[in-house]
Amino acid sequence: MTFLRGATLILAAVSPLSAQMQRAAPSTSSAKPEPPAWAMPLGTGAPAAPDDSVTPRRIAGSTAAFTELRAHNRYDVADWYPESHPAMPEAVARGRRPAVWACGYCHLPDGAGRPENAALAGLPEKYIIRQVAAFRSGERGSPWHAPNKPADIMRAIADSATTAEVQEAARYFSRLKPRQRARVVEAERIPRTRPGTGLYFLAAEGGEEALGERLIEVATDAERHELHDARVEYVAYVPPGSIARGQELAKRGVSGSKSATACTSCHGSKLRGAGPAPPIAGRSPSYLLRQLMGFAAGSRSTKDAAPMRAVAGALTLKDMISAAAYAGSLAP
Ligand code: HEC
Ligand code: HEC
Repeated sequence: MTFLRGATLILAAVSPLSAQMQRAAPSTSSAKPEPPAWAMPLGTGAPAAPDDSVTPRRIAGSTAAFTELRAHNRYDVADWYPESHPAMPEAVARGRRPAVWACGYCHLPDGAGRPENAALAGLPEKYIIRQVAAFRSGERGSPWHAPNKPADIMRAIADSATTAEVQEAARYFSRLKPRQRARVVEAERIPRTRPGTGLYFLAAEGGEEALGERLIEVATDAERHELHDARVEYVAYVPPGSIARGQELAKRGVSGSKSATACTSCHGSKLRGAGPAPPIAGRSPSYLLRQLMGFAAGSRSTKDAAPMRAVAGALTLKDMISAAAYAGSLAP
């Protein structure tokens, strides 16, 4: 187990926003300021190589057994719950060596996704195709400057996947039923965490930390997360009052010098998506928050993203956390 070593995280616990903003201050005036680093944790140290022992791992609720190395095969997805989804097309189950990792390796065979990537189940087919094209063209990137950030990973896949592969994956995922994976919990103090890549784990030493003005999504069981178990639960901690505030914002928008239209006016009354606006109900709150930060920073810059850039540009960090908390708390 890696322990919390990053000084930035210790600072973050004391004064989340100011410390992070200072650290993130761009060196040149033309560079876009980064959103706070806590929203895109990059783990500590090199990730441990999968254990190559021949001992099969099991997960409660699954009859499958895979060695750890097998569970990390990017070209043949370890399917813990084959009964939970239809037969996967080639691009989803196996991808293509070397560059096209199977979509299901990260987004999971039932498309429920993980906090550090995205849920694809139930997204409109055309939306999926357009987003992959945007990763490829660079019009969808990451607002963080550090390497190995989520959008870079997706871009590498998008660069090499053929039109046919993207189409078959989009058709498959769009027909699956979305499913909520994270519980949204309001709290001032949360269990002590350690940063993973794109999400948090519970710190081995136990204890608590102050949440401050952050949204911290934690895997309740690191081992099951690492085995790509589609049923491990996540908890998204948000400051007290966030869900109610987010509901207000979603239904009424914000007014003032910068104004944002109600989210429901485009994403539908239950935020389950409408037209070009994808469903956001019940999806990973930390994913939703990162996207709002990306629109505000201009790292999602397609023509379709223009309405969202205007909306996100009018939101404070607190608004974004609240909106992500509310949307994430709804049934998908
Ligand atoms: C190595 C892991 C990985 C693999 C494999 C992968 N993705 Fe992704 N994908 C990601 C990450 C990470 C993100 C989130 C990027 C971000 O935050 O902007 C993402 C985001 C997406 C999105 C955006 C979803 C949204 O709601 O806007 C789509 C669409 C997508 N991926 C499609 C695919 C398809 C199709 C494949 C297979 C051809 C695939 N991905 C394979 C990691 C992966
Ligand atoms: C004027 C219409 C409009 C309004 C109002 C609006 N959205 Fe959106 N939203 C969109 C569109 C269109 C997209 C897809 C953008 C794209 O294709 O890149 C989107 C995408 C998103 C995404 C990215 C989802 C994903 O799968 O990556 C999030 C998160 C989001 N909106 C949240 C919100 C929230 C929260 C509000 C209210 C504060 C809101 N939106 C208000 C039109 C809107």
